[in-house]
Amino acid sequence: MKNADLIKVFSETYDRYPSVIVKAPGRVNLIGEHTDYNEGFVLPIAIDRYTTMLVSGREDKMVRLYDLKYKESDEFNLDSIEHTELHRWSNYQRGIAKVLKVLMDKGYKIGGMDAMIYGGVPEGAGLSSSASVEIATLLSFKKLYEIDIEPLEIIKLARKAENEFVGVECGIMDQFASLLSKEEYALFIDCRTLDYRYVRVSLPRCAFLVCNSMVKRELAASAYNARRRECKEAVETMKKYLSHIDSLRDITIKDIKKFGSYLPQETRKRAEHVIYENERVKKAVEELEYGDTEAFGDLMNQSHRSLKELYEVSSEELDLLVDTGKSVKGVLGARLTGAGFGGCVLFFLKESSIEPLKEKILEVYQEKTGITPQFYKVIPSRGAFSEQISV
Ligand code: GLA
Repeated sequence: MKNADLIKVFSETYDRYPSVIVKAPGRVNLIGEHTDYNEGFVLPIAIDRYTTMLVSGREDKMVRLYDLKYKESDEFNLDSIEHTELHRWSNYQRGIAKVLKVLMDKGYKIGGMDAMIYGGVPEGAGLSSSASVEIATLLSFKKLYEIDIEPLEIIKLARKAENEFVGVECGIMDQFASLLSKEEYALFIDCRTLDYRYVRVSLPRCAFLVCNSMVKRELAASAYNARRRECKEAVETMKKYLSHIDSLRDITIKDIKKFGSYLPQETRKRAEHVIYENERVKKAVEELEYGDTEAFGDLMNQSHRSLKELYEVSSEELDLLVDTGKSVKGVLGARLTGAGFGGCVLFFLKESSIEPLKEKILEVYQEKTGITPQFYKVIPSRGAFSEQISV
């Protein structure tokens, strides 16, 4: 939807004009899955799909929300923020408002707002629509109330909202990618130190295509949290043999070869995935910079295999998409992206293979599952930003 149309709906809804527009993108992770909460490495890009929020400040502490996609309204007071089952989509804004308390305690005067949300990031697909809503909400408050905080603090607060209020113990990658990504670049993040650097994605005649399996796993959040626990257990056990380690990040391939047999089989598999995946991310950065598309694609393929066999977060549908894709000429790499258990597959392929790949998947996937998948061609895009609206 165009900005002018959004402004019109806002003014009809609230009988006033918005003063700020905020946009925060979803993300797709090129490689480095389930490594962020193990203090490892990730390599996401922001995608050209954004959550847009139009907002205006208020004199009181009310936050009024209107979601254009759900055509639903909700409101709450900054002084008494509770979960809602009725409008679950607004728990993200509620979570952000709740963590603002930290800033209010530091002396910032933060009031309410009238907000209209337009969700352009597909939901439940592993493309971080939730992180985009969180970042958009935080930037809205920041701009309206001139809160002077650093990007890293914004990212940490957004993650805190998701961890503590929404109840998903996610790592830091999604909020990071939504805020700090840059057009034409991937973001190489060290999730321990939070150092990051931009890696140019300039691969002539190649493209990234996301395919949404359209399957959501109801238990995805609890399965995700279970994987986190398993990683923690692996570290606790390995600490007996490697006293210096604090997370799986500290365990080398040599270490796991030597001491891995002391772990229960399942836990060992989880640890192995993380340890090798971290190595793959570092290699992927080199290959991207060097422009070796075959080698980069191959790392993606290895990543998927590991997520399927060792981390066990794939699904029949995701595997079917990956395998079907790999049979198409010009597809260089394919892997599930995001937490897994459903959601999307990311294909890295020659531009000229996009249509043949889509055709093949539509034929095979529909026949075997009865589901029509969705495709999104994605390009490395700009991270979140806010602008004053003058009407
Ligand atoms: C979800 C989480 C991220 C990350 C990925 C898996 O997207 O929100 O923090 O852990 O899963 O790589």
